[in-house]
Amino acid sequence: MSDALYSPSLEGVVVGQTAISDVDGAQGRLSYRGVAIDELAKWPYLDVALLVITGKRAPAAQIEAWNTWMLGHCQLSPRERSWLELLPPSLHTMEVLQSAAPALAAQVLQPPAGIEADPDLLRGLFIAAKLPAFLAAKYRQDQKLVLVEQQEGSSLNERFLFLLHGSLPTAEQVRALDTVQILQLEHSYNAGTFAGRVCASTNAPIASSISASIGTLFGNLHGGADEAVMGMAKRIGRLDNVKPYIDQLLGEKGKVMGMGHREYKRLDPRAAILKPMAEALCHDAAARDNFELLKEIERYSRERFLKKGKDIWANLEFYKGAVFEALGIAPAYYTGVFACSRVFGYVAHFMEFRPVRKLIRPRAQYRPQ
Ligand code: ACO
Repeated sequence: MSDALYSPSLEGVVVGQTAISDVDGAQGRLSYRGVAIDELAKWPYLDVALLVITGKRAPAAQIEAWNTWMLGHCQLSPRERSWLELLPPSLHTMEVLQSAAPALAAQVLQPPAGIEADPDLLRGLFIAAKLPAFLAAKYRQDQKLVLVEQQEGSSLNERFLFLLHGSLPTAEQVRALDTVQILQLEHSYNAGTFAGRVCASTNAPIASSISASIGTLFGNLHGGADEAVMGMAKRIGRLDNVKPYIDQLLGEKGKVMGMGHREYKRLDPRAAILKPMAEALCHDAAARDNFELLKEIERYSRERFLKKGKDIWANLEFYKGAVFEALGIAPAYYTGVFACSRVFGYVAHFMEFRPVRKLIRPRAQYRPQ
């Protein structure tokens, strides 16, 4: 036992193999199924989701059939609405989504006409279709707005924004959300995906594995950093408050949210795409002020890190809020939106792992007090 490798955070430990995505942290590159993220960011959202899951770009007719099927499920049944109403309103959206996944395990599903789908894949895509509907319904419930009954919107993200706001978004807004969702759809053995693989390694069903992943995504060192960045920006409030705030935070050994990454030792390639996108979308004065504030937090934090010899860059989460603000999505729902896209990655990992799964069970050193 004393010779065993000990790494409490598993940093640098290889725990599996994957053909789904390649995170090249040293070069600051990311690809899904061999296609670079810059290229994928221009693709239609569902094309990317299906590529990630199946390993190849699906023919247009198949994508259309899945799109229609998913839109058909992107709404809440009366039972699902009642279930949501019974939950304590104070639950965070991520707690609702984590609970929703296994609650969706029972319904009998038929694949789209003419497509033979694996039952786990079908269940996974069903959950992926339902999550945006739960998220929008939770938002409207929190805001004391009536739920949207109509089913407008011809793609998943257009439907989600319609269910959220009760009106159709512009094409620019849908494209912006598609791009963010593509950027955050998959990221190799991140904490959430790894948790899902651990769950799947016990032969637990896909809905439980997705639930484990969503619960892990919630924390602010992982997906929850997106909401936390905006909380930090709001607390800072003004450009001239950036330095004292960051100085105090780092003096107290706190973390600047949205900065740093376990794998990337260069700029996160997703942040490189998000930053100019956020700038282009911040049209009005309040949004511009918010963007300038984020830029200054990034600039000053990097200056402080570099003085300590740490080359720490902005990650995916840093500029996401500026884009989401422009789409009318409130901070408490950011990580939920993240889950709606990352779920496709979770499904891909479940399907990849299923034929080779083996119980994941590491060791701990026994250290009596
Ligand atoms: N703010 C302040 N210090 C930081 C930050 C940060 N954001 N990131 C790293 N550091 C410092 C650490 O304090 C540590 O310093 P030390 O060696 O003097 O103790 C050093 O840099 C290494 O940092 P670790 O936290 O040990 O590195 P790790 O690989 O474990 O951390 C993590 C990665 C958790 C993402 C970290 O950078 C962090 O906490 N960032 C803020 C939260 C965040 O943005 N998370 C989202 C990540 S992206 C995603 O999950 C989708």
